[in-house]
Amino acid sequence: MADPILQVSGLSLRYQTRHGEVKAVEDVSFKLLPGQVMGLVGESGSGKTSVAISLMRLLPDNARVTGGQVLLDGRDLLSMGFEEVRSYRWHRISMIFQAAMNSLDPVYRVGDQILEAIETHNPELTKREAQERIAGLFQLVGLDPQLTQRYPHEYSGGMRQRAVIAMSLACQPDVVIADEPTTALDVIVQDRILRRLKEIQSDLNMSMVYITHDIAVVAEVTDRIGVMYAGKLVELGDTSDVFGSPIHPYTSALLSVFPSIRGPKRELVTLPGEPPNLIDPPAGCRFHPRCPYAIDACQTEDPPTVERGSHWAACWNPLPVQTGPQETSGPVSLEEQ
Ligand SMILES: Nc1ncnc2c1ncn2[C@@H]1O[C@H](COP(=O)(O)OP(=O)(O)OP(=O)(O)O)[C@@H](O)[C@H]1O
Ligand SMILES: [Mg+2]
Repeated sequence: MADPILQVSGLSLRYQTRHGEVKAVEDVSFKLLPGQVMGLVGESGSGKTSVAISLMRLLPDNARVTGGQVLLDGRDLLSMGFEEVRSYRWHRISMIFQAAMNSLDPVYRVGDQILEAIETHNPELTKREAQERIAGLFQLVGLDPQLTQRYPHEYSGGMRQRAVIAMSLACQPDVVIADEPTTALDVIVQDRILRRLKEIQSDLNMSMVYITHDIAVVAEVTDRIGVMYAGKLVELGDTSDVFGSPIHPYTSALLSVFPSIRGPKRELVTLPGEPPNLIDPPAGCRFHPRCPYAIDACQTEDPPTVERGSHWAACWNPLPVQTGPQETSGPVSLEEQ
């Protein structure tokens, strides 16, 4: 097997707030191989964006990484000096932000913003070469290269999203983190951009962390899937195995919101109960208050790791192996308890 391009181990992050410390990411570990796409899913507030911005070292002032390593090609991004991080960011690892509309500066032409990133990281290129690269990137994401001369407000939402994707690819990074890159767009544009992004990823053999609420998208674009609940990674493995036979009751509950992964797309909004307050999360397994399978140990002790083939989960009372097609065996629904 190839060496991982990205290796995250024991990542923990906290936010200081007036009400106390938000334990937003706890002991998250995963590996990403070259050319691999990993989906990161979980309800709103489960810590997906917090993981992403830790990988980029783009943290707000009230955030503190309290532990862990983020190795990119064997170098720890979390312990690098500021200048060194800047040389990695966008160049080796880049990000498409959740609020992409806000990541373009309104007062600069879109082409000039991308040019600045290329000039910083690829000083060996002449201006003309850099401009040619930008025109190529615009074509790649399906934008007319003439648009480089326009300002963000002259773009539609779909065009801006494509420009932001072009910008994330400008320095030919090894790893791209896409945080809900299409959520703000209408469904047809979402599909088109998603397909383009997937083609680009596989043509360039980039590695990608794809964050989304949309399980159908995960099934379509990812090789691996990581499921987050209340700041913790609770299950991780090959997408087909996790979908086919989830180990963790939370994963199964997520899938039950989507009766068929080939069916119509729906948002992950109907799980009963509320995720916990991360200032004072439940002891033991953070999911136990909502879990129909909780046993005594779940309330007090951290769950052990259960390994099964390509995937693992952190659970005291794992689901049995499911055989046969997922549609007929059916995932567990929290509403059935
Ligand atoms: N700057 C901040 N200051 C304080 N708390 C924060 C900050 N950013 C995020 N949080 C809290 O950290 C937790 C994780 O948030 P995060 O944005 O990482 O979740 P997410 O999984 O990306 O959610 P979503 O799906 O809504 O984007 C939440 O409880 C959130 O309220
Ligand atoms: Mg988020």
